[in-house]
Amino acid sequence: MRVNIRDIQRMKQRQEKIVMLTAYDYPSAQSVESAGVNIILVGDSLGQVVLGYESTIPVTMDMMLHHTKAVVRGTGKALIVGDLPFLTYNLDQSQALENAGRFLQEAGAQAVKLEGGVEIAATVRHLTRNGIPVMGHIGLTPQSVHQLGGYRVQGRSSRAAERLLGDAQALEEAGAFAIVLEVVPSLLAELITQRASIPIIGIGAGPNCDGQVQVLHDMLGWNTDFTPKHAKRYVEIAEITRGAISSFISEVQSGAFPTDEQSFTMDGDVIKDLKGSD
Ligand code: KIV
Repeated sequence: MRVNIRDIQRMKQRQEKIVMLTAYDYPSAQSVESAGVNIILVGDSLGQVVLGYESTIPVTMDMMLHHTKAVVRGTGKALIVGDLPFLTYNLDQSQALENAGRFLQEAGAQAVKLEGGVEIAATVRHLTRNGIPVMGHIGLTPQSVHQLGGYRVQGRSSRAAERLLGDAQALEEAGAFAIVLEVVPSLLAELITQRASIPIIGIGAGPNCDGQVQVLHDMLGWNTDFTPKHAKRYVEIAEITRGAISSFISEVQSGAFPTDEQSFTMDGDVIKDLKGSD
C-alpha cells in the first residue's frame, strides 16, 4: 500500500518529520523509496538537473509524464507527486484539470504540485473538488524566476512575509493537502508552519517546518558546477562516477577488461570445424 495524503497529514499531527526527495527515473526512484522517504516528487527541476536547461521554464507536460511513469514503475510505497510545468495550469481551470488529470490517469501519480498562492487558490479548489490531491508551492517559485528577478530569498520584508502567510492560508482553505515552502527565512517558515493545519515542507526554509524536501542531484553531488546554499552534499557521486569510468577506460586500453568472468564459452569443436572449413 502506498503512503496517502492522510498519512502525510497525520505525520504533522504526530510531529513526525516528513521526508520528501525528487526522483526522475526508474533506478533513482527505487533507491529513494528503498531508503524510506515518504514522498517522491517528480519535480520540474528535472529540466535543470537531468536535461541541462538553465531553468524549469522549457519543461513540458510530455517530459513530465515520461519521467513520472518511470518513477511510478520503480516504486510501490511512496506517495508520488507530479509537478505541473510552466503555464500548464494558468490559462484556465479546465486546462489545469486536464493536465493534472493526466498525471494521475496516464502516469500513475497520486497527487500534483503547482506553484503559486492566492492567485492560484481557485484552481487548487477546482482540482481538489474533482478528486485530485494538490500540493502547493510558495516562496521562491522557480517557474517565476524572471518575475522574481532571480533565485532570491522571499518574505524578508513585513509586506512580503504577510503575503506568504496569506498564500499559505489561501492554499489550505482551497484544499491543498501540503505546501512546499522554498527559500524563506527560518523564523517566517516557523510561523507559517505553526499557523497551518496542513504540513509545510521546507526547502531552504530552516529546521522548523513539518518536513524537508531536497533535489536528489543536489544532495548526491551530481552537479559539480553549482550547489544551492540550502543543499548539503551527502556524497560526491559525480567524482565517484568519473573514477569508475576512468578505471573502465584504463582497463579496456590495457586489456584487463573483460576477463573470462565477463565472457561466454562455447564448444571448442565448433570453432575447430569452422577453422577447418576455411
Ligand atoms: O521541481 C522541484 O524539484 C521542486 C522542489 C525544489 C521542491 O519543486
